[in-house]
Amino acid sequence: MLTPTITDAAELTTMPASWPSDAPGETPAISFRGVGKTYRGSRGELRALDNVSFDIAQGEFFGLLGPNGAGKTTLISVLAGLARATEGRVSVLGHDVVNDYASARRSLGIVPQELVFDPFFSVRETLRIQSGYFGVKNNDAWIDELLHSLGLSDKAGANMRQLSGGMKRRVLVAQALVHRPPVIVLDEPTAGVDVELRQTLWQFIAKLNREGHTVLLTTHYLEEAEALCGRLAMLKQGRVVALDRTSALLAGRASTMLRFKTDQALPPQLLPLARVTGRVAQVKVQNAGEVEAALAVLRAAGVKVEDLEIGRADLEDVFLEIMQQADRPPSSLLSLDPEATA
Ligand SMILES: Nc1ncnc2c1ncn2[C@@H]1O[C@H](COP(=O)(O)OP(=O)(O)OP(=O)(O)O)[C@@H](O)[C@H]1O
Ligand SMILES: [Mg+2]
Repeated sequence: MLTPTITDAAELTTMPASWPSDAPGETPAISFRGVGKTYRGSRGELRALDNVSFDIAQGEFFGLLGPNGAGKTTLISVLAGLARATEGRVSVLGHDVVNDYASARRSLGIVPQELVFDPFFSVRETLRIQSGYFGVKNNDAWIDELLHSLGLSDKAGANMRQLSGGMKRRVLVAQALVHRPPVIVLDEPTAGVDVELRQTLWQFIAKLNREGHTVLLTTHYLEEAEALCGRLAMLKQGRVVALDRTSALLAGRASTMLRFKTDQALPPQLLPLARVTGRVAQVKVQNAGEVEAALAVLRAAGVKVEDLEIGRADLEDVFLEIMQQADRPPSSLLSLDPEATA
């Protein structure tokens, strides 16, 4: 039986090296062209998107990453026709989201970031109403399959307000898929969702992707993005700051990390090069010389370390490096003076 894990899903979405440029003429699943969005309010203007341009090919599993407020949901709102771009054009399978809204919207299944639902309907009624909205009749077989795949079969008759937060999110996913849209957009679908459902959800979405559905995903769980997405765009303050295949982003950036645990503060000269999460510190290193330099600095400062290891950088390291690039000048470990105090 085919029960893909996240790792399997990543393999399944791996595309040939020349892809997607070897498919000239094929209509992109999603096309963003020079998209800008300025929110105007009583307190002034906010530039949420600035000249965003990229295409997502049919069949891709594409990740849109960025810190809070980067513009991910705004871009999805423009795609969904919920917000109007200030400049630029967006199309779904060739349908302009403004001039050809009905066709564009019908091609999309959108799982919104915010939990919005009508508390008076049952889960099944909610899905039937959504089917009706898209003009899909006699949809119960597919609704049953969705409920089963998302672990909701025993909640079909439950009222929406009786569901837990994670279950409501599952219903939002089912709701987005009732009309079998070719393009599936998930805006942080796993926020607040337990480990088991995350696995179930990814198996299901990976299966849909294998069957030809295009997937656009935003998530703050970068290990999910690394495992699932063949290609990624990173947004920062409304601009695309990285756009590449996941494997290329991982290969081309921070390569190796020195990781260790410590209860002590890091020496000041190491701090700008380190990422500290609780007791765990990670320092980017390029070669053996840099490992020695970092250890010398720690030793000279009398910092005791445990569980020292050298590992490959992951997407989180790459993401942080790209996001911080504009904020601080590059620095080399080899230039560090172990005896320096600041
Ligand atoms: N309706 C709105 N009116 C005014 N400003 C808005 C509106 N919606 C979003 N913004 C602003 O636009 C910027 C981008 O917000 P957006 O929700 O797109 O970010 P995001 O990348 O989805 O963030 P998160 O990871 O927190 O979901 C933010 O500065 C936000 O405050
Ligand atoms: Mg968002």
